[in-house]
Amino acid sequence: MEPKLIIHGGAGQLEGSIFTFLDYHNALLEIVGDAYAKLKVTNAREAVLHGIRLMEENPIFNAGKGARLQKDGQVRMSAAIMNSKDNSFSGVINIQNVEHPIDVANILSGQKYTVLGGHEATEFSRLNQFPYFNPITEHRLKEYKNALIGESGTVGVVALDQEGNICAGTSTGGVGYEVPGRIGDSATVAGTYATKFAGVSCTGKGEHIINQAVAARVVTRVEDGMPLVDAVDKLFEEANQFHYRFGLISLDKNGNMVVGNTKNVDVLYAKHDASGAKTFYKN
Ligand code: GLY
Repeated sequence: MEPKLIIHGGAGQLEGSIFTFLDYHNALLEIVGDAYAKLKVTNAREAVLHGIRLMEENPIFNAGKGARLQKDGQVRMSAAIMNSKDNSFSGVINIQNVEHPIDVANILSGQKYTVLGGHEATEFSRLNQFPYFNPITEHRLKEYKNALIGESGTVGVVALDQEGNICAGTSTGGVGYEVPGRIGDSATVAGTYATKFAGVSCTGKGEHIINQAVAARVVTRVEDGMPLVDAVDKLFEEANQFHYRFGLISLDKNGNMVVGNTKNVDVLYAKHDASGAKTFYKN
């Protein structure tokens, strides 16, 4: 099986960001290359973790360092991972002060309780030796002072490894300036889902993604025999009827990689196969 990997750095509105589309292109291009190299020598889960960690470390993305602040000035982050190999979804919701929410989500995989939220998720991370980390950056503080609500910057990776395993992961700081405790889509099966047939990671307005049960819906349609591209097209036909705003990356067991979005939303993505890397960016 030829390994394949697709990543996203959120939906395409920059919302007054100090970063340009070229900045996102450059960051995604480097990260997709690193994650693909990892995929070739490890497996889908390790590649997803590696790719998401790199984006969580890069402050231009709304995940980990550089995550957005909620209305009370606190950063609460969410992340999830699902791997077809063990059919296991795990996640953290509104965790605080960790550098890599995706790693906390990952160690919950296969445990008795696989999704933790709030203060207890943070406590769980400390018990598991995740040190305190302050994710707040200057530019997010400035956005917060301007009460900026956004839709962009969530990160995600979907990978297919040589053994045919598919893994999907997503990490986010939410939409910014939201009511404290709001829960988006990323650490639900609407935002992140994978089986041996297909995997999906979403970005955009979490409430809309949850209403459509997006990731699980696309994967289920593929499992029931619909080609991935048709499953994604159908999903967005439905979503556009509601004037929703979100996008997704997806990949199936045959190595097809499909990006989809509602009207007026572009997904900042990059993909890699044996022929090389491509990003969303057009000169
Ligand atoms: N899609 C990220 C969020 O709505 O929280």
